[in-house]
Amino acid sequence: MKITFIGLGIMGSRMASHLANNNVELTVYNRTKKDIAAFKLQNVIISDSVQHAVKDADIIFSMLSAPNAVEEVFFGEEGALKSMKDNVIWVDCTTVNPSFSVRASQEAKLNNVRFLDAPVSGSLPQADNAELLFFVGGEKETLLEVEPYLNMMGKQVLQIGETGKGASFKMVVNMMLAQSMVIFSEAVLFGEKMGISKEFLLDVVPNLIVSAPFTKFKAEKIKAKNYEPQFPLELMSKDLNLASLTAIEQNQPLFLANLAKELYAEANKSGMGRLDMSAIFKYLEQNK
Ligand SMILES: NC(=O)c1ccc[n+]([C@@H]2O[C@H](COP(=O)([O-])OP(=O)(O)OC[C@H]3O[C@@H](n4cnc5c(N)ncnc54)[C@H](OP(=O)(O)O)[C@@H]3O)[C@@H](O)[C@H]2O)c1
Repeated sequence: MKITFIGLGIMGSRMASHLANNNVELTVYNRTKKDIAAFKLQNVIISDSVQHAVKDADIIFSMLSAPNAVEEVFFGEEGALKSMKDNVIWVDCTTVNPSFSVRASQEAKLNNVRFLDAPVSGSLPQADNAELLFFVGGEKETLLEVEPYLNMMGKQVLQIGETGKGASFKMVVNMMLAQSMVIFSEAVLFGEKMGISKEFLLDVVPNLIVSAPFTKFKAEKIKAKNYEPQFPLELMSKDLNLASLTAIEQNQPLFLANLAKELYAEANKSGMGRLDMSAIFKYLEQNK
């Protein structure tokens, strides 16, 4: 099987390296030139055109920033879908909104390409250690063909339902992630304002039963004032916008998620977009 991986950002570079390390016949493509050696990507073909990258592939993975990037790369007359062989499988791991995934599946079908939406849970460390969780939407038979490769990059594959349901579940997970980060940050800053030491709060609060477990790792970043991106804040802001759009499509109010959306949008606007999403703490701290 010939595999192509498109999008070598924080996540994609690490995911592709696991395929390469498992001796998969791999071609990679990224919009801008990347230092491939730095990604430990050995024995891969590096393509400088997306059309060339996909033309012989049996399975194509994409891990791009947002729906507009997927649209730019795959759709239209010059899009990658037009260069794919018949009956190949395109697995989009990008976090997009469910209605976009349904549209991507329709575009794929028009070009005789099979489609799965397979966004991931887990961040840079999990991508590094092949411990991602895949949330998959689409046909079971198609997933069976792709599953061995997903297992090289992750530790669990959950088929959530038909096309778009992987993306739907990812919306659920990320709105909780975004809000939990705000809840944790606000609580610590409030405690500090009342005179409790910041060190105590950052050590103890993440271990309370009321806290989301991932705050343990984010508390360490806050303590070290290290906001190097694992999950860039601008992408969390994008995900909250997609959740909000989906809520409108579903006629479902999302009270707290929409408040969080505005807060991340403000932090993004203030220049924190390429910091880790935990920099929402820094933003609130600066504005307290
Ligand atoms: N980081 C995380 O913790 C995490 C966790 C779960 C899910 N996700 C999701 O996974 C996806 C990738 O995240 P990431 O952290 O790897 O992002 P990232 O580091 O910002 O990488 C984004 C990738 O998309 C490419 N791209 C952006 N716009 C493009 C366009 N118009 N045309 C072609 N390529 C384009 C970038 O290419 P260039 O290098 O040329 O800019 C890069 O390869 C996002 O949807 C994100 O929400 C991220």
